[in-house]
Amino acid sequence: MYPEFRPRRLRTTPAMRRLVAETSLEPRHLVLPMFVADGIDAPREISSMPGVFQHTEDSLRAAATAAVEAGVGGLMLFGVPRPEDKDARGSCATDPDGVLNRALRELRNELGDATVLMADTCLDEFTDHGHCGVLNGSGRVDNDATLERYAEMAVAQAESGAHLLGPSGMMDGQVGSIRAALDAAGFQDVGQLAYAAKYASAFYGPFREAVGSSLEGDRRTYQQDPANRREALREVDLDLAEGADLVMVKPAMSYLDILREVADRADVPVAAYQISGEYSMITAAAQNGWIDRDAAVLESLMSIRRAGADIVLTYWAAEAAGWLS
Ligand code: PBG
Repeated sequence: MYPEFRPRRLRTTPAMRRLVAETSLEPRHLVLPMFVADGIDAPREISSMPGVFQHTEDSLRAAATAAVEAGVGGLMLFGVPRPEDKDARGSCATDPDGVLNRALRELRNELGDATVLMADTCLDEFTDHGHCGVLNGSGRVDNDATLERYAEMAVAQAESGAHLLGPSGMMDGQVGSIRAALDAAGFQDVGQLAYAAKYASAFYGPFREAVGSSLEGDRRTYQQDPANRREALREVDLDLAEGADLVMVKPAMSYLDILREVADRADVPVAAYQISGEYSMITAAAQNGWIDRDAAVLESLMSIRRAGADIVLTYWAAEAAGWLS
């Protein structure tokens, strides 16, 4: 007796495996999140994310140019204001001379349309309380007052040259209100990569250091409960109805089931964000000699693609693009 079918035949040589691979990973699939900080005179490594930096405007320009030359699909920019520039409304986010808007302008001048320039459209980096929105009298995040701030922030980012905005605050109606504001200001061509299904995750820990977050407490009144699946699909449907151009699932690796369902359902491009904690876990294990770093990085990215992501935001974007091209 012998097996009727021998799957191993299709695994015999690298060329054979390459021929039959179902999923591919290309530099264009990868988007690099970057941090630009105000008031520093040299790039500062984020201790919980070895290899990732808060950039000065100069080092940002250099790193962004290198990433684009390596072939990444786009850049996602986060601003880190000076602590003394934070306030309850996140004023720095809408100030044309705030750190994020300034950096967007510089990068757009430098890179033009050579890449897709994206901006995080959220207040948490800019508020002194660290929440993603403004607070009401009882200290809760006020959804509709926050929408007004997002609308102003979106217009400021579009004026600064962003091609795509990434509303990441999980307020109800954020995509619709940003769409209306952009259209009213004449930015019909500026789109939204909507963080549609964003979970309240412990794996954001290192990002809080990366942006010098002031948050105490958590974001469970606006980000999703990790227990919920159907709710993610509703969030995606709402964002699509409000005009999202692309939708995102975040985090990636603990939510690959959600990613698969979103990919099956959405008729727009789907992104997934391999977040700070995912980066740090692999980095820490590799630093201990416990896993092969580069192989683990590529396997993680491939698994996110296989689960349905057209686009993967990852802190390894530039490096992995270099390996893949
Ligand atoms: C909110 C935002 C966060 C991340 C991206 N956008 C933090 C949060 O929701 O607490 C996390 C990214 C990461 O962990 O890599 N502006």
